[in-house]
Amino acid sequence: MTNFNIVPDRRNASNSIKWAWYPKDVLPMWVADMDFLTPKPILSALHKAVDHGVLGYEMPMQPLKETVAARMDNLYSWKVKPEMVIAVTGIVSGLSVAARMACTPKRGVLVQTPVYNEFHEVKNNIGIPQLNAPFIKHVNGNIISYEIDWDIFEKQIKKAGMFLLCNPHNPLGIIFSRKELLKMAELCIKNNVLIVSDEIHSELLLDNNKFTPMAKLSAEIAKHTITLVSPSKTFNIAGLFCGFAIITDKDLRERYEKELNHLRLHVGSLGLIAAQTAFSGKCDGWLKEMNRYLTGNRDFIVDYVTEYMPDVRLTVPDATYLGWLDFTQTGIDGSPFEFFLKNAKVAASEGKIFGKEGEGHIRLNFGTSRKLLEQGLEQMRKALKSI
Ligand SMILES: Cc1ncc(COP(=O)(O)O)c(C=O)c1O
Repeated sequence: MTNFNIVPDRRNASNSIKWAWYPKDVLPMWVADMDFLTPKPILSALHKAVDHGVLGYEMPMQPLKETVAARMDNLYSWKVKPEMVIAVTGIVSGLSVAARMACTPKRGVLVQTPVYNEFHEVKNNIGIPQLNAPFIKHVNGNIISYEIDWDIFEKQIKKAGMFLLCNPHNPLGIIFSRKELLKMAELCIKNNVLIVSDEIHSELLLDNNKFTPMAKLSAEIAKHTITLVSPSKTFNIAGLFCGFAIITDKDLRERYEKELNHLRLHVGSLGLIAAQTAFSGKCDGWLKEMNRYLTGNRDFIVDYVTEYMPDVRLTVPDATYLGWLDFTQTGIDGSPFEFFLKNAKVAASEGKIFGKEGEGHIRLNFGTSRKLLEQGLEQMRKALKSI
């Protein structure tokens, strides 16, 4: 059993972006990595590689591709051949490569807002238009939920070269239903739009929820889809920058590889080693325990906010370790992110970076110990009380 209540000191013992960005008296609850130790089998594999003593150039070999393919089969009964697996230097690079291939100044990238801030950068990286399909927001007591606005989606998809799907969704924590995925895919195929499905959070499942990759739904959908998966969020190895594009269609795959080769994006050797162990199944016991702990953290936030901050609204995420809190009814003047940074010494993620619908909201990273989570919420509650 792993004790997730114990987290190491990251502020003084690492170059962590999350812990080094803000002054020492600020509790960081922003960048999406977790404060938990990486599981032991991964650390052992990395120790072994370092102890070997030579850290020259390496490349993704057949056993690693077989491991990724086997994981898709084990988790989803999705039959992927090893040659369909391409290593990428992280998912953000992987999706930008896809946009270079599929978008033009006339056919942009469609995203569902509010959405992961890096999705908003694709247009700037590539010089293409961004098309937004904002969700419809529902409020039930202090719980908020989001639904696809199909009219807008259908209108925007006509102008897109690529649909960038975030499933599970960051920052909303949604796992899209089979019905929703089928409808999105149908509209993409009808309009000849490439589907790029960022599934980086797909193994961070709360409440024992289930997940299905978009490309698993049918051979026809797979033919039009690039699936991006990674062990980085799940096993807390984001700093090693290793992810995978899974592309079943040969032509699409060759075009993607060509674009990737132009950019000379090579994954570091330690990333390849960590991914091999992470996806081998050796850490699955750890993952199950961690998802249970994260579910407890999610419940803790919902209960805490409901009891002590009744004017605050929030999502109940089905996946990820990201909460989405709405302060529009609280009387905070201006950005809640700035408010809590100044008055609570808590650094969350600014809602606006996820799209204009995020104004008045923050994203809160709960991938930490219950104690630090409680401390952060307590500091926020006191700051709110002072208004
Ligand atoms: C949806 C999503 N995609 C990609 C990333 C980052 O991926 P990488 O670090 O592999 O580029 C994140 C990190 O927060 C994310 O939430």
